[in-house]
Amino acid sequence: MEIPATASSTGQAIVSAEEQQSTPQPGCFSGALDCAATFLVCSVCRGPLANQPQSVVCAHGHSFDRAREGYVNLLRGKPAGDSKEMLLARRRFLEAGRYRAVSDAVNGMVAGHLARREGSAASVILDVGCGEGYYLRQLAAALPTDDALAPRLVGIDNSRDAIRLAAGSDPTTCLVVADVHELIPLASGSVEVLINIFSPRNPGEFARVIAPGGMLLIVIPQPGHLRLLRSLAPLLGIQEGKEDRLLAEYGNAFEHLSTMPVEYDLVLTGDEVIDLITMSPTFRHIAPESLDALRDLGEAPAGVRVTVLVFRRR
Ligand SMILES: C[S@@+](CC[C@H](N)C(=O)[O-])C[C@H]1O[C@@H](n2cnc3c(N)ncnc32)[C@H](O)[C@@H]1O
Ligand SMILES: [Zn+2]
Repeated sequence: MEIPATASSTGQAIVSAEEQQSTPQPGCFSGALDCAATFLVCSVCRGPLANQPQSVVCAHGHSFDRAREGYVNLLRGKPAGDSKEMLLARRRFLEAGRYRAVSDAVNGMVAGHLARREGSAASVILDVGCGEGYYLRQLAAALPTDDALAPRLVGIDNSRDAIRLAAGSDPTTCLVVADVHELIPLASGSVEVLINIFSPRNPGEFARVIAPGGMLLIVIPQPGHLRLLRSLAPLLGIQEGKEDRLLAEYGNAFEHLSTMPVEYDLVLTGDEVIDLITMSPTFRHIAPESLDALRDLGEAPAGVRVTVLVFRRR
């Protein structure tokens, strides 16, 4: 069912991007959170947030501290998500360029969309489940920075360690601790592009925050992703039929524009195999002895087989 632009998935009223931009802003932070209050909403009452010197606060007095590293924590429950060990392994693996082709595919789609949508009122590129921030950094490096109207990069993740790491590595991106299953703490219709890479989703919230005509990119593993490695190491399985389920789930609010496979082969070092397992959900289920045994494996083949699903908000 399509979610109206002014209602949350729980039915509570949420301020629209247009309404929020007319709300007086008492001041701006320096750094990544400057002017973030033009699109962030309170996770308690869902009203607009205004900047204070050390915090963001809504009209009802719900206040959220701005961390020294320059991010804000809007999570109501306890932070969860990936641990620091998982995130550091992810950072090593990604910074070595092992999924660079995935980020290049995403960047190309985003740049093409922005060129076609010049002058859109929505001003945010949002990464939901941004982890330690690799894909946002790649986008920041690829997109022009000299344009005052350039979209703001925003990342959310429910792991405080992830957001802290991301904030530390990119002072220009607005980073927020939030749970996508609960609320994406952004104004309705404020997002021009939403990217979601191997991370949890919320179709109702995606439909609410993305502006009409805006783009949704979902990156998922294909059933054959890392197949050879899977025969050597106990990685968690990939569900069959995931792509079809997503197409059905998003079909009401979004038009499916294309499906882009990204496929290539890698030979991983033993250390990279360990990092790949440590950064994946498998890590939560694997016994330390099994991980140690893999250290002696040496090089291992790994076929990257992922799919980028491209949608447009109706
Ligand atoms: C497999 S990682 C992918 C991270 C990043 N997109 C990448 O590819 O490097 C999944 C991420 O989703 C985050 N996550 C898990 N549950 C979440 C939730 N309910 N809300 C927001 N983020 C969540 C985790 O903390 C983790 O950083
Ligand atoms: Zn509030």
